[in-house]
Amino acid sequence: MRIVILNDQTSVAEAAADIFVDQVSSKPDSVLGLATGSTPIALYKVLCHRFSCGKLSLKGCATFNLDEYVGLEGHHEQSYRTFMNKHLFRHVDLLPQRIHMLDGVADDPVAECRAYEDRIREAGGIDLQLLGIGQNGHIGFNEPSSSLASRTRIKTLTPNTIEANRRFFSADEFQPRLALTMGIGTIMETRHVLLLATGKEKAEAVRQAVEGSVSARCPASVLQFHPRATLLLDGAAASRLEDTQYYLHAEDENRHL
Ligand code: PGA
Repeated sequence: MRIVILNDQTSVAEAAADIFVDQVSSKPDSVLGLATGSTPIALYKVLCHRFSCGKLSLKGCATFNLDEYVGLEGHHEQSYRTFMNKHLFRHVDLLPQRIHMLDGVADDPVAECRAYEDRIREAGGIDLQLLGIGQNGHIGFNEPSSSLASRTRIKTLTPNTIEANRRFFSADEFQPRLALTMGIGTIMETRHVLLLATGKEKAEAVRQAVEGSVSARCPASVLQFHPRATLLLDGAAASRLEDTQYYLHAEDENRHL
C-alpha cells in the first residue's frame, strides 16, 4: 500500500486528479472505476476544471460506477446516476454509451449484477478504481461481513450507513435500504485502486484498513492484499495511524527516485 498523507482535502483532490490525468494520458482508452459520496466531489471538480482548461479529455475512456441504490430510478434526485451527471458526466466529454452504471430498478437485480460483471470483463477490466471508505470500513456498499471474494450483487445497508447517508434525503422521502454494489473480489481485480479519505470521522476506519488485521469486519483492509493500492489521506483521516513518520519518509524518498 502506498500511504500518502496530505495537508487538506484540496491537496487530496489535486493529487487524485494528477493520478487520473496520468492514467488517461498514458492510456487514452482507460477504463475508470468511479465512486460517489461527499469525498470525491472535490476531485470531480478538479477534473472538470482540467477538462475545461484542455488538460484532460475522457472521450476515449469507459467508466463503471461502484454502486447504485435499489429502488431509485436513474433520474431520481438522490440516485447515483444523478450524482454523477451533476458532478462529472455532464461537464466532460465522456461518450454516454461508455458510461456504465448499475440499474437500481432492474426487474432482475441478480441478472443485472451478472451482466455488469460481464461488461467490465468485455471492457478489458478496470485500470483505475476510485474508492471512498465508510466510517465502518465499507468500500462500495460492501458492508462489514461482506465476503472478501464477493462479486457484484445486492447488499443490505447497515443502519450505520443508512444513518450516515440520511443527510442526503428529506425526512419524508423514501431512503433505500438495499444497494447493488461491485463486490470486493471485483474491486480486487482492478489494476490500480485509489482510495480517498478526508476528515476525522474516517480516522478509525483508515487505521483499521491500513494497520489492522485483514478482516471482513473492515472490508477496506482487504486492500492490504491489492498489488497496487494508493491511499490519499488528509491529516485528519490519517490522525489515528501509528506509522505516520514512516509513510511521510517513504513518500519523501520516493520523490527522489
Ligand atoms: P462519503 O462516503 O464520501 O460520503 O464519506 C464514502 C463511502 O461511504 O464510501
